[in-house]
Amino acid sequence: MRDKNWFDAGPIGELKSKKLQQIMTGETRIALAYKNGEFSAVSGECNHEGGPLGRGRMDGDNIVCPWHGWSFHRKTGHAPAPNEIDCLPRHEVREKSGHLFIAIKPSNKRTHSLHPPHPLTRTISRKAGPIRVAAISTSPMDKNYPRYSTSESLLLSALTHARLTLKAETKLIKLRDLNFHHCGGFYSIDERACTWPCTFTQADKKDQLTEVYEALVFWADVILVATPIRWGNASSLYYKMAERLNCIQNQVLLHDKTLIRNKVAAFIITGGQDNVQAVAGNMMMFFGELGFMFPQKPFIGHSRGWAAEDMDNNIAYVQSNERLKQEARELVDRAISTSKSLLKKKP
Ligand code: FES
Repeated sequence: MRDKNWFDAGPIGELKSKKLQQIMTGETRIALAYKNGEFSAVSGECNHEGGPLGRGRMDGDNIVCPWHGWSFHRKTGHAPAPNEIDCLPRHEVREKSGHLFIAIKPSNKRTHSLHPPHPLTRTISRKAGPIRVAAISTSPMDKNYPRYSTSESLLLSALTHARLTLKAETKLIKLRDLNFHHCGGFYSIDERACTWPCTFTQADKKDQLTEVYEALVFWADVILVATPIRWGNASSLYYKMAERLNCIQNQVLLHDKTLIRNKVAAFIITGGQDNVQAVAGNMMMFFGELGFMFPQKPFIGHSRGWAAEDMDNNIAYVQSNERLKQEARELVDRAISTSKSLLKKKP
């Protein structure tokens, strides 16, 4: 069968060996399914973000996208209810002379259900007004049995100073109060699978990391991030947040789109035991990659050293130490001053 409208996908015997596979006809991706002795072909590009459906898996009669799990009927191309308006182009198939042929032109158009744009896709523009400082505490603790946190207490010293003395608008985010998914690792499947807004943010309205995205991308001029040192690293909650921020950095790589511009980050790092410099280095590298700028001396740290196991004395030390509180205030002084110079510059 030689016809420019049909593509020879190969010998039927070979194609039957896979329930689902991706077939390329030139630049076009087709998802070819084989079930109950019959072939069916639909577009291999997912309606969501273009994931390669032919590399997904079958769930009954549905093809499940390998990127974020949207599914489509292998024959009709429709998504399951209530999203059935989402429909993939279908391609006719024919068997001839032991080969399978796929129609190059689809028999229907792709249709999308009307998903309203996510609020985080709005244009980023700074509203006029005083400098805005968002403080993020990453200290994990049991909400029902709160305890004294040295990093959070210094963060509050900085924030109070920013609000009362420097007349900044301020916001405190305690990560432990937010209910949010850990990263799904979509980037590890394919860099394009890590989307802005994050797939979990789009899919789960209850995911509360939106508060952090709003603060970092839209609201704040300065962010202060405070972490305790846990086994030589920032806290587990810090990393849970950081992994979900991959989608911000990924926009630069994939779409040359910078979400963070002219913003300043500074850090407060405390631990009963040591490793302040390593934690600071890691945080600066990460927030630098997101697009943040740094003031001179962008972090303050406190640790009483490796042998300090007497945590009650550490707490008492931080509570009564005026020098540490003064350092926290000076940190936010420097951060706000850097922010003001950045904002004065023309973009
Ligand atoms: S579910 Fe297919 S690209 Fe997201």
